[in-house]
Amino acid sequence: MFREPGSIKQQYMNYEEFKERVRSENDIVDVVGRYVDLKKTGANYRGLCPFHNEKTPSFFVMQDGQFYYCHGCHRSGDVFKFICEYNHLDFPDAVKELAESAGMDIPEKFDYGGGGKSNAGLKNRLREMYKTSAEFYYGELYKESGSEALEYLKKRGLKKNTLVAFGLGYAPKSGTALYDYLKSKDYSDADLKESGLFSYKTGKPRDIFTNRVMFPIMNSSSKVIAFGGRVLDDRQPKYINSPETPIYSKKNNLFGIHRTRNANKERIILVEGYMDVISMHQAGYPETVASLGTALTAQQADIIKRFSRKVYLIYDTDSAGTQAMRRAIPILKSAGCFVNVVSMKPFKDPDEMIKSEGADGVEARINSADNAMFFEIECIASEYDRKDPSENAEFEMKVAEMISELNDKFQRESFIASISERFNIDKETLTAEVNRLGNEKTTGRGLIKATVSPSERKEYRRPQDKKKDEDLGYPDERNVLLALVKNPEIFNSVKEYVSVDDFSEGLIREIAGYLFDKLNNGSNIQAGEVLSRFDNDDQNDVGRIFCNDMYDNSDDETKNTFAAESLKNMLIRRHDEKCENAPPELLAQLIKEKKELSDITINIDQD
Ligand code: GTP
Ligand code: MN
Repeated sequence: MFREPGSIKQQYMNYEEFKERVRSENDIVDVVGRYVDLKKTGANYRGLCPFHNEKTPSFFVMQDGQFYYCHGCHRSGDVFKFICEYNHLDFPDAVKELAESAGMDIPEKFDYGGGGKSNAGLKNRLREMYKTSAEFYYGELYKESGSEALEYLKKRGLKKNTLVAFGLGYAPKSGTALYDYLKSKDYSDADLKESGLFSYKTGKPRDIFTNRVMFPIMNSSSKVIAFGGRVLDDRQPKYINSPETPIYSKKNNLFGIHRTRNANKERIILVEGYMDVISMHQAGYPETVASLGTALTAQQADIIKRFSRKVYLIYDTDSAGTQAMRRAIPILKSAGCFVNVVSMKPFKDPDEMIKSEGADGVEARINSADNAMFFEIECIASEYDRKDPSENAEFEMKVAEMISELNDKFQRESFIASISERFNIDKETLTAEVNRLGNEKTTGRGLIKATVSPSERKEYRRPQDKKKDEDLGYPDERNVLLALVKNPEIFNSVKEYVSVDDFSEGLIREIAGYLFDKLNNGSNIQAGEVLSRFDNDDQNDVGRIFCNDMYDNSDDETKNTFAAESLKNMLIRRHDEKCENAPPELLAQLIKEKKELSDITINIDQD
């Protein structure tokens, strides 16, 4: 096409339009191909991930969808995000660079610095502000007014160099100490507000942390990105934490990780609390981290796995700790970790155990840790009365199911042997049941055949899986969105059965909302463009849903079956959820509906 110089300038109505034009001029395979050696494998391209160290390629570039996704580090994005992350550029600069490399004229009338999605300036200022705040709190700990806090930490057994290594500090009693300090350093009111370190409830800003021991939360490059603060006595709440900000998202960080980098990486230890991490490090276990006061997330599991796949859990022995551990285990397993549980009895938490048994005692306990499956089965066993024959049978069924999910035969055999002995289950019966379940799975639904790693395969073999991921909803609904974004022509069939509100709250529903809107308006959709509607961190999750090499390499019939099955699984699961909360008088009707649901055949029309 022939372009008159300068004529393009007038053609863009706004920045958005210009950006989309830049996108369409820059094929993602060409752009990424300048930096990464890509090979075409089936429908997609594959290479070594430029964002983490790896020996076998798990970095995929999808030409159809115009996005990339790495199965190793779970980074995903469109062509702009790639240039931002690879070259450490702001969003507007990445757009400019791609415009230039495509030989486009760059209009001057748009404000590249402020607008757009870039908040790199704010992020830098927040990082600086958190660093300054950490220095402030640190200084306060060693003043006369901090003596009670310092005394408290010493009483808890922390040594001077531990306090320094973790940058522990003290937030003074006055309600505006930090605010006044930061003001004196010329931070703007707008930035102070963004930091989340102040409350504006009364109109006037107040420090959220007062009279607390301060635990800076650092990222893996030792930059302070948030704080936890503990009271000095038994008051509630024991801890408060600074909120999520543009520089801090809880689900993507782990406490203690900054010192784990240089640790012995043959294993990683996961504990619950700030204090547990600190005592473990002090006792000589710098490979210890904690999730930040919430349930472990899939993203945290990925970070853990990058340090080591061998994970040891040391959670509190109370029921909250046991529950938290039960939730963490499957998440770590799906990330590909080998999970072990360290027994701490009779102690309540690692801190107490170290005080009583010393570092050597801890090592001995780690060495005799049990595979997490034993812990899981013990938990299940405690829910059944095994003297009752039918309850016992159900328990044994559950055990067989768990074993049948193991990927290789040797593992299954060795678990059958030890579990049957430990839990007093007849070995022959257990073996037979495990084999039966295994056969059912392989003949039942051979959806899409491909060579994939076991962790990817697992999700595929079990589209009926009911487990919910905190951020990513259920596999059935993820798969419906995957099918929809790749084959928008099935939309008419899909919307006959589900609407946006049927999707789990959060990211999943946001994606569904966006797709349904666009498709209702008859617009085109493309995975990379959908992805770009979300924040950087969320893009990784969206990419995770949309990247499915097996799907891309399947024939149309298989894709249709996949869409229909996913839709059906979603309907059945939604219906089950309805039954759980239903008043008894509706149950008969609901059961009838369930029967009808499991009998329906969903036809996917391609139009
Ligand atoms: P110590 O009790 O001093 O040994 O602290 P700990 O870090 O061991 O705390 P605990 O085992 O009670 O709780 C584990 C983690 O849960 C803490 O490190 C916090 O991250 C979080 N947590 C505990 N209590 C609270 C609370 O009251 N509010 C919030 N937001 N988080 C809490
Ligand atoms: Mn504790």
